[in-house]
Amino acid sequence: MSVRNLEKAFGKQKVLKGLNLDIRAGEVFVVMGPSGSGKSVFLRHVIGLEVPDAGEIRIGDKLSTNEAIGNHYRLAIVFQSGGLLNSLTVAENIGLYLSEHRLKQPEQIAAIVREKLSLVRLDPEVGDKYPSELSGGMRKRVAIARALVVDPQLILFDEPTAELDPMVGMTVGREIVNLNQRTGVTTVVVTHDRDLAFGIADRIAFLLNGQLIALGTVDEIRASTHPILQQFLTAEFKG
Ligand SMILES: Nc1ncnc2c1ncn2[C@@H]1O[C@H](COP(=O)(O)OP(=O)(O)O)[C@@H](O)[C@H]1O
Ligand SMILES: [Mg+2]
Repeated sequence: MSVRNLEKAFGKQKVLKGLNLDIRAGEVFVVMGPSGSGKSVFLRHVIGLEVPDAGEIRIGDKLSTNEAIGNHYRLAIVFQSGGLLNSLTVAENIGLYLSEHRLKQPEQIAAIVREKLSLVRLDPEVGDKYPSELSGGMRKRVAIARALVVDPQLILFDEPTAELDPMVGMTVGREIVNLNQRTGVTTVVVTHDRDLAFGIADRIAFLLNGQLIALGTVDEIRASTHPILQQFLTAEFKG
């Protein structure tokens, strides 16, 4: 995926100020930065929910527009809220896209649901439960399983550890890495969680006020001398 000179403003506020990035196939790429830096707006551009003021995003050779998504490449996003429907079972939530679009027979959907649950290391019986019966960490894994029904080539996570306590957050981080290794899916995570970023990233881009101020491996980011990045890497920083 390539991002070229991506710019976006809302009214007078410039939120993305000319982003340039190349994300490699199969890597875990983390966009890290304090809250308000433009991470979610960036993700919304990747999935074609926002139209850039200038610049472009390409996935493969296709522009990342609303129309291209679905027609040309398979992409999934796990939103911060998870977005599970409490009135449906876990299995119904995971299979919803397939059943609503009448893409598969019920037996086929059941098999796909079991496969996706096992990819996030959940037992098949979890499918019979309702989201409200699960812990926050398990709900997050179900949300990931649901994202996998399209067999994505690219999976995006917005703040996957938000609202989870730190221990659970690390298990979700391990799940993201495990999934990346087992399926080879290109993985983009945006987060203000420094421990998550350092725990999972092949490479990190640090976004501040809509600009990239550092890009590199975990070691390279740790070694950066940028004062605000250094501040972010110390415990006191409040995202
Ligand atoms: N639809 C919108 N309309 C106006 N301002 C927005 C909109 N979406 C985001 N913003 C502003 O853009 C900035 C970056 O937001 P966001 O990308 O959500 O930050 P974060 O890095 O925390 O995900 C914030 O100041 C936010 O208020
Ligand atoms: Mg956000």
